[in-house]
Amino acid sequence: MKQITKFFILVGVVSFTSLSQAACSFDVEVGDYLKFSTPDMAVEKSCESITVNLKHSGKLPANIMGHNWVLSADADVQTLATEGMSAGLVSNYVTPGDARVLAASSVIGGGESTSVTFSTAGLVSGDAYTFFCSFPGHSYSMRGALTVSP
Ligand code: CO
Repeated sequence: MKQITKFFILVGVVSFTSLSQAACSFDVEVGDYLKFSTPDMAVEKSCESITVNLKHSGKLPANIMGHNWVLSADADVQTLATEGMSAGLVSNYVTPGDARVLAASSVIGGGESTSVTFSTAGLVSGDAYTFFCSFPGHSYSMRGALTVSP
């Protein structure tokens, strides 16, 4: 019994320690609906790179209820979503080589997972960024603010 108590105290200390450090990795869940599990995200430049792990816990395939995680400046979301539609699923609904796309994961369907890692070097603290799903029609509700702190 004493051993078990010690174990839980240790786990508590380890969790507390990791909370005080910058989060450089985020787990985001999506499903057969138009919503990210994370409404907003705060990243820190002290992380050289950020990783977003996207998990689709739904059942519908990517061509019906596909989701991705795309990052851009606030002002570019609308244009990127429109142009991404033309790029099609084959390009993950993102125009290849578009510099306004700061990060983009592939489009996944139910039961699938993917991740995207991007450098924070190009992110400016205080600038307004938005993450969204570029699947046609999804960006209106599948979006959130990403704030950057030093
Ligand atoms: Co979507």
